[in-house]
Amino acid sequence: MNNLAVNIGNIPLKNPLICGSGEHFIELEGIEQALKAGAGAVVIKSTNESVAAKEQLQKTDYVMLNSDFKKQSWDFNPAKDTSLFNRSGLHPEPFEKWLEIAVNADKMAAKYDAYCVASLIPASIDKLIEYAKIVEKSGIRILEVNVGAPHGDEAAKGAILLERHAAHIKEITTKLRAAVNIPLWIKLTGQSQEIPAMVAAAMESGADTVTLMGRYMAFIPDIETQQPMLGTHGAYGGPWALPLTCHWLVKSRAIIGREYPMLATNGARSGHDIIRFMLSGASAVQMTSAIFTGGYGVIADALEQIEQYLSEKNMDASDLIGLAADHVKTYADIECKSENKKDYWRDFTPT
Ligand SMILES: Cc1cc2nc3c(=O)[nH]c(=O)nc-3n(C[C@H](O)[C@H](O)[C@H](O)COP(=O)(O)O)c2cc1C
Repeated sequence: MNNLAVNIGNIPLKNPLICGSGEHFIELEGIEQALKAGAGAVVIKSTNESVAAKEQLQKTDYVMLNSDFKKQSWDFNPAKDTSLFNRSGLHPEPFEKWLEIAVNADKMAAKYDAYCVASLIPASIDKLIEYAKIVEKSGIRILEVNVGAPHGDEAAKGAILLERHAAHIKEITTKLRAAVNIPLWIKLTGQSQEIPAMVAAAMESGADTVTLMGRYMAFIPDIETQQPMLGTHGAYGGPWALPLTCHWLVKSRAIIGREYPMLATNGARSGHDIIRFMLSGASAVQMTSAIFTGGYGVIADALEQIEQYLSEKNMDASDLIGLAADHVKTYADIECKSENKKDYWRDFTPT
C-alpha cells in the first residue's frame, strides 16, 4: 500500500509532488530526470501560438537573491531562504514540435506510473481551444491551462493572456470544457482580488482542479548600480510566498467545500513545504523554482521528507488535506487575552 498516493479528480497520483512548468521541462531529458527522481507528474514548459512569447525566452534572465536582496551564486545548492527573480518566455519550438515532445513525455511518464501534463498559456482564446482539442486528440492524458502567468502585463501585446476576474475564468473554462473531455487543470494568478471566486468559477465550469497560484510581478532596485535588477520588472517567488498561497487555499476551500481538489504552487522548497500546502487544503503541490535552482535531487529529498513525516505521524498523505484549514478561526473567535493577563500586547512592544 502506497501511503503517498493522492487523487486529483479521476487521476490517481503516486505521490503529491508535481513538477511545475519551467525551463527545465523544455526538453525530454529534463522531464525524464524528474520522472526518474520520482515525481508524481511533470508539467511540460508551456506553449501558445505567439512568436513574441517564444522570442521572449531568448530575452530571459534569472537572479537568486537572499533576504537582503544580495545576488547569490547559481551553484544549484541555494540556501532555503533564497528568492528567484526572473523574466521568462514560452517553449521555443513550434507547436507541432512541442506536441511531439509532450506526447513522448507522457508516454514515458506512464512507464514511471506518472504523468506528463500538457501546458498551454493562452494568447488568444480561439487558438487555445484549437490547441486544447489537438492535445486531447494526441493522447496526452492531462491538460493544464495557465491563465495567470505573471509576465502577461510586461510581455509584448497579445503574447500572454493574464486573467484576473472570475467572470473571465468562467467563460474560458466553460469553452474549454465544451471542447475537450480530458482532465483540465486551470492555473490561476495570485494577483487578483477575486481568488476564491475564480476558484469557484473554474470548479463550476467543469475544471478538474485549479492550480493556485502564480507568482507576483516585482521590481527590485540594485543599490550598487542604482538601476533596476535585470533591467525590467520580473516575476518574483520564494519561500515567503508559501503562507500567501496557503491563505488563499484556505479561503477558497471555505467557499468551494472539502471535496474539490486544489493544487498548490508558489513557495514549496521542501517536503515539509508540500505538507504545509496539503494541511492548507491542497491535494498535491507543484514545485518549480526549488528544482530549477537546486536540481532534480530536490525531488527525491522532498519525497523522503514526506515519507518520514507520514511514518512519524502514522498517517497517509491524503489524510493531511485541509487538516489545518478546517481549524482556522476568525479574529472574532479568539478569546480576549487581557481578561487573564492585563495589557497582553506589552510583551510584544519595545520599551
Ligand atoms: C523559470 C520559470 C519558468 C516558468 N515557466 C512557466 C511556464 O512556462 N508555464 C507555467 O505555467 N508556469 C511557469 N512558471 C511558474 C511555475 O510553474 C510556478 O507556478 C511558480 O514558479 C511558483 O512555484 P515555485 O515557488 O515552486 O517556483 C515558471 C517559473 C519559473 C521560475
